[in-house]
Amino acid sequence: ASTQPQPRGAFIVFEGADRAGKSTQCQMLVEHLQAAGVAAELWRFPDRTTAIGKMINSYLTSQADIDDAAVHLLFSANRWEKREELLRKLRAGTTLVVDRYAYSGVAFTAAKGAPGLDRAWCMSPDEGLPAPDAVFFLSLTVEQAAARGGYGEERYEKADFQRKVLEQFQAMRGSSWRVIDASQSIEDIQQQLREQAAAVVARCQRGGEPIKQLWG
Ligand code: ADP
Ligand code: TYD
Ligand code: MG
Repeated sequence: ASTQPQPRGAFIVFEGADRAGKSTQCQMLVEHLQAAGVAAELWRFPDRTTAIGKMINSYLTSQADIDDAAVHLLFSANRWEKREELLRKLRAGTTLVVDRYAYSGVAFTAAKGAPGLDRAWCMSPDEGLPAPDAVFFLSLTVEQAAARGGYGEERYEKADFQRKVLEQFQAMRGSSWRVIDASQSIEDIQQQLREQAAAVVARCQRGGEPIKQLWG
């Protein structure tokens, strides 16, 4: 194995309940990084453009009903099918800002409280996927989220369920998590994210940062 420092892109994941502002902040952060001359791309999970992603989209929009365990595995497969491209981009020096990842996968299925679908079971299919260098968790209560014009039409966008999802997220906080108060203004949140992201991007750019694996 080489001991040379290998500069690479940073793998930054955004998590949080529905309406916390993830998509807004991801978009702004990627544009900011690009304007600053950092090679960066915006990714999202589920990636609804693939064949698996289309099945997931049918499920989320209630055009299809899929067994809870089966759809959980589809969400995970949707990450596995992007693994090689994700690693290739990081090694080529591109920073990836990713709107949801395996933490959402675990939180949403485990929140169903269905027999056999406990957190350990939910975590197992994502074991071995590339682990993010940082998880920015946008923290917002269900009441605050609901005040943002109410939840949408998709499956899961209901207050009682979102409360259970938040409990699951709490239980998964790890050392790479940075919790951000998402009730602040869009600009204030973005400012904090830019500072945190700059540090992570610089660390990965310096080299010597291995890409870790879930659930390490
Ligand atoms: P998510 O991707 O987490 O579901 P979005 O970025 O789509 O959230 O934001 C959900 C809604 O809340 C949008 O209407 C957005 O304009 C609004 N919003 C986002 N961030 C804030 C904020 N900090 N304060 C108030 N409203 C916000
Ligand atoms: P998303 O497209 O990010 O929706 P939004 O921007 O409205 O939050 O995610 C769609 C839904 O899919 C969301 O309710 C969370 C859920 N989800 C899972 O259930 N499992 C997963 O693995 C992922 C990535 C998302
Ligand atoms: Mg979103």
